[in-house]
Amino acid sequence: MTSTNRTRVLTGITTTGTPHLGNYVGAIRPTVQASRNANTDGFYFLADYHALIKCDDPARIQRSTLEIAASWIASGLDTDKVTFYRQSDIPEIPELTWFLTCVTGKGVLNRAHAYKAAVDKNNVAGHDTDADVTAGLFMYPVLMGADILMFKAHKVPVGRDQIQHIEMARDMASSFNHLYGEHFVLPEAVVEESVALLPGLDGRKMSKSYDNTIPLFAPAAQMRKQIASIVTDSKAPGEAKSTEGSALFQIYQAFASAEETNALAQAFADGIAWGDAKQVLFERIDREIAPMREQYQELINNPGKLDQILLAGADKARQMATPFIKELRHAVGLRPLSSVNSASTAKDSKVALPSFKQYREKDGQFYFKLVDAQGQQLLQSKGFASPKEAGQTIGRLQTEGMACFETLGDLLQAWPPEMLPVIEQNLSHLRLASQKNSK
Ligand code: TRP
Repeated sequence: MTSTNRTRVLTGITTTGTPHLGNYVGAIRPTVQASRNANTDGFYFLADYHALIKCDDPARIQRSTLEIAASWIASGLDTDKVTFYRQSDIPEIPELTWFLTCVTGKGVLNRAHAYKAAVDKNNVAGHDTDADVTAGLFMYPVLMGADILMFKAHKVPVGRDQIQHIEMARDMASSFNHLYGEHFVLPEAVVEESVALLPGLDGRKMSKSYDNTIPLFAPAAQMRKQIASIVTDSKAPGEAKSTEGSALFQIYQAFASAEETNALAQAFADGIAWGDAKQVLFERIDREIAPMREQYQELINNPGKLDQILLAGADKARQMATPFIKELRHAVGLRPLSSVNSASTAKDSKVALPSFKQYREKDGQFYFKLVDAQGQQLLQSKGFASPKEAGQTIGRLQTEGMACFETLGDLLQAWPPEMLPVIEQNLSHLRLASQKNSK
């Protein structure tokens, strides 16, 4: 393994579409730049197992994988320096997905945004709750957790909509670690605030779902034509134009230097014709893209070469994944029957658990508190008239966890809101441990 003070950065790209300028500005360009940082080890992969959740068109999956791989490499990703691979070339990923599935609460997955959105939509339409919802969509966060935890990623650059998935991956890691010992690194989401959100042809966010994208590596003539179709107001040549709310201006800004941007702002004030402004925009983008377009075309025409690059990446990735999954198999008890000296259960070696402590105070009432594995107090009850009542409340906290906090509010002393996640996590460790013991 690499030395410990290096930061491991990992992110995946779902292979369902053709990269467009919004992907380039928002993800590809900043990631390629960050991948050059000497103190980071980059893991970038094509999330083609994830693609199957959204797309049942095999040709499209294959084409998209080709286009995305070619786009990243043509945009400057150095596949010798980083680890660039295809998710489905790593058989350890689905195996880890299963291990994580077994430490993930079904209730946690019920709350995942993408699944919840599908359920809400069905409910509003009066359909069965789970109509047209695949188990793949439901399990999406677990597969993503496996992607991240497999390579002990510290940082995961993602869009805002993915933060919840990273938090779930942390929970999976922490549950697994509590049950089986410290194997996983707890990952952190990184949301880049400063990268531009690119507007599309119609001024809304550039997105495949709005059908307003400009493909990154379309032939120059096609790109020029599309840029000509960017929506503007109807101000005539010679009339001053506002940069505010202008999609054309915003796209220009994402490619141009500060001076160039100022110059275009001046031209807007001086009444540049929209046709001319579009020509300026096309030329600026093409200046950046044209040199890469050639390499892109070459790669697209040589899919065998891309296969080779991706397989070499998978080899590199599996140098970590293969021994690690072996370690994890052993940890959970999938072991050679002959490995006698390690036949002791994980219970002997694993980290201590949080616990409930009951006691009686001078006021004659019965109390309990929840302490973490290190004995730190997390939660304290108010006084109960009998030990039985205190015990019942503990029982509910143990079985329902967080879910019963609202109804129990009066029975517990106040705690600082920032403790809530910690309390929830400790309760979930307890719950998991007792489930495992009762099997
Ligand atoms: N779900 C991510 C997206 O749609 C793609 C993805 C899959 C990913 N696995 C990942 C991102 C692991 C980061 C880490 O954007």
